[in-house]
Amino acid sequence: MSDKIFFITGIDTNIGKTFVSLLLLLAFKQRGLNAGYMKPVETGVKINEDGSKNYLDGSYVKKYGGLSEEPDIITPYTFQSPLSPYAALKKEGGDLCIKEIMFKFYGLNKIYDYMLVEGAGGMLVPLKQKHFMIDIAKYINAGVILVTKAGLGMINQTLLSIEYAKSRDIGVSGIIINNVLNENDESVSSNKEMLGEFTDIPIIGEIPYISEKERSGDADALKNFALKYIDLEKILV
Ligand SMILES: Nc1ncnc2c1ncn2[C@@H]1O[C@H](COP(=O)(O)OP(=O)(O)OP(=O)(O)O)[C@@H](O)[C@H]1O
Ligand SMILES: [Mg+2]
Repeated sequence: MSDKIFFITGIDTNIGKTFVSLLLLLAFKQRGLNAGYMKPVETGVKINEDGSKNYLDGSYVKKYGGLSEEPDIITPYTFQSPLSPYAALKKEGGDLCIKEIMFKFYGLNKIYDYMLVEGAGGMLVPLKQKHFMIDIAKYINAGVILVTKAGLGMINQTLLSIEYAKSRDIGVSGIIINNVLNENDESVSSNKEMLGEFTDIPIIGEIPYISEKERSGDADALKNFALKYIDLEKILV
């Protein structure tokens, strides 16, 4: 597994992969490291009146992460239906070629020393016939960064994802606990410690709930969040 290519996945969809990808990108950049981002497949991408696509994840990371690539380079495949890629492919038709994703990935990987590649949904989201989302991590030889929630139930879901990755011989480089649901049950304060007892995978970030205003406001504030909440030390070799 490469120590410079990371595949950002999560225990579930909407767990904060895009937000975490942005903070990781900003953390790399603040260390003077040349890092890029790709979201190979995005679903739920609406077409604007002028025919352009309303990319969501790529546009957000491009805007606040200062990326120079156009969104169609960041995201080669889109579907309009808010479904898994395979379900959207079945519904809308068209094409989803893993070789093409890899070709586009290696194009970006030539420019950047470090690459962050965001999946859609979790590991076992259907990508296309006989393929799951996590297969992309395997093909590009990435280390997985697993985004998990805070709160009751996170240990079970996090360990299940880790065990699955292990069973497929996919390395997990780090875990990020993201309190995306603003949970405040009694377990939140002990999640990190408890998780640490059951896995050796480094916990490289613990991000509290952050208001919408702060998430899409000032670029400097986002840089500060990256510095405060992401510990790259544990994944840099
Ligand atoms: N720490 C946080 N505090 C508050 N809101 C957050 C936090 N992290 C993410 N969010 C918000 O939660 C929503 C889902 O996050 P995000 O889009 O990053 O999830 P995702 O896992 O990338 O989803 P998808 O599977 O659609 O790509 C977004 O509105 C995002 O801004
Ligand atoms: Mg996302």
